[in-house]
Amino acid sequence: MKRLLIGTNLKMYKGIAETIAYLSELITLTSALKNDLELFVIPSYTSLDRSHQITCDSHIRLGAQNMYPALEGQFTGEISPRMLKEVGVSIIEIGHSERRHVLGENDQFLNKKVLTAVEQNFTALLCVGETAEQKSFGISDEILKIQLAIGLKDIKPEQLNQVWIAYEPVWAIGVGGVPADPDYVELRHQTIQNKIREMFGPIQIPVLYGGSVNPSNAEGLLSRRFVDGLFVGRAAWEAKKFTKLINQILPIWKGKNEHE
Ligand code: PGA
Repeated sequence: MKRLLIGTNLKMYKGIAETIAYLSELITLTSALKNDLELFVIPSYTSLDRSHQITCDSHIRLGAQNMYPALEGQFTGEISPRMLKEVGVSIIEIGHSERRHVLGENDQFLNKKVLTAVEQNFTALLCVGETAEQKSFGISDEILKIQLAIGLKDIKPEQLNQVWIAYEPVWAIGVGGVPADPDYVELRHQTIQNKIREMFGPIQIPVLYGGSVNPSNAEGLLSRRFVDGLFVGRAAWEAKKFTKLINQILPIWKGKNEHE
């Protein structure tokens, strides 16, 4: 049985004490489900070291929200793969919409990060998604294909098992975001899988959906074909609520995998 891939990015929320309290509770609450889950949490940099100490013997994998594509150098304010390895990180989130649209990161730069992350034996979690304006022009699929063509360029076939994709439409993310319709999401996920197949042949990379996932839409989203997991923001930031959400959707996941 394929495990449910689900995780959360804590963005610029929760200091060290809050993160540790959150993770401790989440480890306890989800421990009975661990054989069904591939669960990951992506806290702030300053919490990573302590987070590693409490997650290293648990079923929770730790991610970093960003990484500079060089082992060391004159890059003030940046963080290197070597430093992230030192604090037990195994997943690197790359190109979240806030990095793309608030911090101005482009596809070429994100490609360097993806290549560095996989070379350094991390799982690269590449986020893609169109803006509201791009959607209004009807070019969502074109945007996704460009983001994948550039973002995954030069990945070696043997490194593809270290790549996850998160489809996160920019207009669906965060406070003020509009939750995406499952029909719409299914089509975009299909576009993503088709593009991956065109680039690399018949392989399957997990594609997660993210953007205002909450208890009222999670089942509908996860039940769709091509939706291989969920990347949750606000609805996951309290351990009890996150566990409740996971318990709510696990039967959907199991049912879907039985039929595939
Ligand atoms: P949200 O965040 O669930 O709070 O919309 C999702 C994300 O930014 O990944």
